[in-house]
This record gives sequence, structure tokens and C-alpha cells, in this order.
Amino acid sequence: MVQLSALTCLFGGLLGLLLLVPVLLAPTPPGMCTALRTISSNLSQRRKYMQHNFPINFTIRVHYEEVFRLSNISRLKLKIDNLEMFALQRLWFHVNHGILKKILRVMPERHPSRRYGAELESRFRDAEGIFVQSHPTEAFQKELPEKVQEKLDRMTEHLDNVPESSWRFVSPKQLLDNFQRSMRCLFRECFSVVNPEIDCEYDVPHGQTPPPGT
Ligand SMILES: *[C@@H]1O[C@H](CO)[C@@H](O)[C@H](O)[C@H]1NC(C)=O
Ligand SMILES: *[C@@H]1O[C@H](CO)[C@@H](O)[C@H](O)[C@H]1NC(C)=O
Ligand SMILES: *[C@@H]1O[C@H](CO)[C@@H](O)[C@H](O)[C@H]1NC(C)=O
Repeated sequence: MVQLSALTCLFGGLLGLLLLVPVLLAPTPPGMCTALRTISSNLSQRRKYMQHNFPINFTIRVHYEEVFRLSNISRLKLKIDNLEMFALQRLWFHVNHGILKKILRVMPERHPSRRYGAELESRFRDAEGIFVQSHPTEAFQKELPEKVQEKLDRMTEHLDNVPESSWRFVSPKQLLDNFQRSMRCLFRECFSVVNPEIDCEYDVPHGQTPPPGT
């Protein structure tokens, strides 16, 4: 009898594992997770480097599409049927590549956060390289959902050609807050979180304490 229940337990456990498999087997390659986790750990110092080393209320001019928060991700998912994680991840790389470049651009060579920003950007480019390599070329040739593509197109326009109403002024720290949270949401299999759903849906208004683990 004892043996039987042990067996049931084992079987139940295995079944549980099997049910988990589709989630665990999300297409993020291990090297990419390592790269993203390093970025995430580096981002834990963003307050020091991206807030304290800047004048109070310092902001950077960005496209409104570059304010890429968890709420935007949720909204896109609602608007687009069967939106693939891959499309969101491509959008994420695109947005944050621009963000990191813009942050670097406002820092003169001798700015105390310059090295930090440059290292982040370099690690980010490495992660992007792994991301590109880990998917077949055709995956990138495939058309993105129209709404996602529109966002990408708008972001590549030079800001001076963009109407002023589409600009946003955001602090470097807030941009990196969005970067960090959206990364943990879109590559959640790389991050051990207590409750992945909450980690993904929870959007903290600026200035409040982020959820534990960010
Ligand atoms: C980023 O993380 C790596 C690995 O933990 C560490 O070696 C490096 O010093 C960190 N860089 C910064 C700027 O914090
Ligand atoms: C920073 O912004 C806050 C809120 O908008 C404002 O109350 C404060 O006076 C600003 N500080 C400086 C130094 O401009
Ligand atoms: C994301 O949502 C914010 C409001 O939460 C909005 O200002 C911004 O334009 C949105 N970004 C995109 C890409 O839709």
C-alpha cells in the first residue's frame, strides 16, 4: 500500500513535470539566458548610475513608442490575436537598443556613468547577437503583425521629423526600469520568479517600489 502511494506520487510528479514542459521549453537558448541574467544583475545598480549621477529631474527625449512598459505589452496582447512571444521579443530588442543608444548619447566621455552605460550596451548587443543566431533567418524575414511593425517603423524615424506630440521626456532610470521589467516578462523562462503571471502583468507606476525580485 505504501509502495502504491509512493508510485502514485511519483507518477503524479512526472505528470506535473510533463505539464510544465511546454513552458520550460520556450525557445530561449541557455546562452541567451546567461546574457540576460547578467544584464539584469547589472541593472540592479541603475539607481546609482542612472539617477544619482544625473541632475535632478534629468530626462531624455524619446519616441512615445519607446516608453515600453508592461501595460503596453498587455495591451498589444489584447489587440493582436495569437501574438507570438517572438514578435514581442523582437520589438523589445528594437526598443531597448534605441534606448541604450540614446542614454549613451547624453553622456559625455567623462561622465561617471559612461562606462556603466557602455558596458550595458555592449552586453545588450551580445544578447541580441545570440537572439538572432538562435532563430532561423526565415523567422526574421517573416512579417510582423501590422501593429508591431508600425511601432517599429515609427521608432526608426528621426525624432526631428516626428511631431512634438509624439515625444516623451523620460528619465534614464525610468527607461531602464521599463527595460528590466519588460525583459523579465518577455524572457521569463530565464528568470526564476515566484509568480510569473504577476511578474508580467504587474505594472508599477513611476516612483513606487517595484515588485520583489526586480
Ligand atoms: C555586470 O555583471 C557582471 C557579471 O556579474 C560583472 O562581472 C560586471 O562587473 C557587472 N558590471 C557592472 C557595470 O555592474
Ligand atoms: C523635479 O520635479 C518635481 C516634480 O515635477 C518638482 O516638484 C521639483 O521641483 C523638480 N526639481 C527640480 C530641482 O527641478
Ligand atoms: C505605453 O503606455 C503608455 C501609457 O501607459 C503610453 O504613454 C505609451 O505611449 C505606450 N507605448 C506604446 C508603445 O504604445
